[in-house]
Amino acid sequence: MNMDVLVSLSKRRGFVFQSSEIYGGTGSCWDYGPLGVELKNNIKRVWWRDFVQARADMVGIDASILMHPTVWKASGHLDHFTDPMVDCRECRRRFRADHVDAVAWTHYCPATKGNKFTIPAGEPCGHCGQRRTLCPECGKGELTAPRQFNLMFKTFMGPVEEDAAMTYLRPETAQAMFVNFDNVLQSMRLKLPFGIAQAGRSFRNEITPGNFIFRTREFEQMEIEFFVNPNDRVEGRPADEYWHDRWIEDCMAWFKRYGLREENLRLREHERDELAHYAKRTVDIEYNFPIGWSELMGIANRTDFDLKQHAKWSGKSLTYFDEERKEHVVPFVVEPAAGVDRALLAFMADAYREEEVRGEKRVVLRLHPELAPLKVAVLPLLKKRDDIVRAAHEIRATLARQWRVVYDDTAAIGRLYRRQDEVGTPYCVTVDVQTIGDAERGERGDGRATIRERDSMEQIRVPIPELPAVFRELLDGGAWQQVAGRYPPARG
Ligand code: GAP
Repeated sequence: MNMDVLVSLSKRRGFVFQSSEIYGGTGSCWDYGPLGVELKNNIKRVWWRDFVQARADMVGIDASILMHPTVWKASGHLDHFTDPMVDCRECRRRFRADHVDAVAWTHYCPATKGNKFTIPAGEPCGHCGQRRTLCPECGKGELTAPRQFNLMFKTFMGPVEEDAAMTYLRPETAQAMFVNFDNVLQSMRLKLPFGIAQAGRSFRNEITPGNFIFRTREFEQMEIEFFVNPNDRVEGRPADEYWHDRWIEDCMAWFKRYGLREENLRLREHERDELAHYAKRTVDIEYNFPIGWSELMGIANRTDFDLKQHAKWSGKSLTYFDEERKEHVVPFVVEPAAGVDRALLAFMADAYREEEVRGEKRVVLRLHPELAPLKVAVLPLLKKRDDIVRAAHEIRATLARQWRVVYDDTAAIGRLYRRQDEVGTPYCVTVDVQTIGDAERGERGDGRATIRERDSMEQIRVPIPELPAVFRELLDGGAWQQVAGRYPPARG
C-alpha cells in the first residue's frame, strides 16, 4: 500500500486536508475534514470507553496545554528532550543527524563526469563506490557538526515577551497526570493500582516531520499513567513488571480488536542505550505503515522518576499511604502512550482494499463499524418519486438520533454504493418501489427497506420500524450473518 494513495483518498473524500492549503500549505500541519474528524473522534471514544469507562481502576482528566514552566525542568524535558540536528552549509536544509542516512541521497558522481544520481538510503554509489558525506538533498553542501536542538515550542504567557514569562506548549500529555497525582488520589479516594488517562494535543518542533500524519509538529496523544505499588508482587513478580506486560498485551489486543491485522503488528523492545532518561524498560508496538515498520505506540515503565522529580521541584509530597504496611511509598508508573493520528493512519492503511467485483474495481475501507465515520447511508432508488425520497429522509432522521447517518441521491445506485464503500460506511439502506408501492397501479408496498452490508455486499429486506433495533444490534458488535439469517434476502 502506497502512502500517496491514502493521501489522495483522504483529500478527495474529506478525511485529511493540507493545513492552510489556499496559502500554499503549512509544512507538516494537517486538518481533519468532515469524515476525518468522525474517524478520529471514534478512535478516541472507543479508547476512552475501553480503557477508562469500562475499568474500575481507571479515571480520566483533561488538563491545560500550558503548564508551569518548572514542570519541564522537573520532567527533564528542558535538559533532555533534544534531537541532534545538522545543517547543509549550501542549501541550508536541516536534518536530524540520526535520520540523515535514512533517506535517498543525491550524488554527483566523479566516475561518470559528475552525472547526477539518486542513490537509495544507506547504499554506496554503484559507479564510484563512494558513500554519502555531503547534504543528501542538494548533494553539494557540507553538513555542520551535530548540535542539540530542544523540541519544545516556546511561547509567552501574558502581554510581555520576556524570559520570565516564557512557557512551553506541552510535548506530551503525561506530565499533567503526574502533577495532578495527589489531586486525583485525594478527590477520588483511589487505591493502588490505578491509572489516570488523558487524550489531548501535544506539540513537538520536530526537525524532520513528514510522511503525512505520521510525524507532525502538532498531534494528539492518548496516554495512561498506571500507578502501582513497587512493594507489591503479582503472580510472583514485582507489580510494575507484571503490569507492564499486562498493558503491552492489552494494547496489542485493542489494536487487533479494531481491525489491525496480526501480520502488520509487532513488538519491539528498546535497547538499553535508546531508553528515555526516565525508563526502566520500554516496548513499542510497531505497525507496518506504508513507510515500513514504525512506532505506533510505546509502553514504558517510568519507575518513580516523575513523581519523585515533581516532589523535589514543587516541594509537595507525592506519595501514597500503604495501609497494610503502614508506610508512604512513591508509586511506580507504567505508561501506555499512543498517538491518535498514527492510530488513524494505521486503521486507514489496514482497512484499504482494492477488489474486483463483476469485472470492476471497487475501493473499500474495511473499517471496524465502531470506527467508521458514517454508520449508515440512506439512498433512495428513484429520486423522482417524492414518496420514496420522503421515506428515505424519514429513515435518515430516525437513525441519525443515534448514529452518524447520511442521505445521498446524487448518482445512480451503483455509484452511490461505491462512494460509501470507499469511505468505509458499513451499511447502506435503500428505499424503492417495493417499499412504498405504486398507487397509480394500485400496488401496495411491503414497508421494508434493503440493508446492504459493505464487506459481503449481501442485502436483506427489513421492515422500516425494525431498522433502529437492527442497527443497534449490528453497531453494538452483532454479527451480520446472525441478523441476516432472520430476514429475507433482497431480490436482484
Ligand atoms: N509520554 C510518553 C510519550 O510521549 P512518545 O513515544 O514520545 O512517548 C507516544 O509518544 C506516541 O505519540 C508515539 O508512539 C506516537 O504514536 C505519538 N507521537 C509522538 N510524536 C509524534 C509526532 N511528532 N507526530 C505524530 N505522533 C507522534
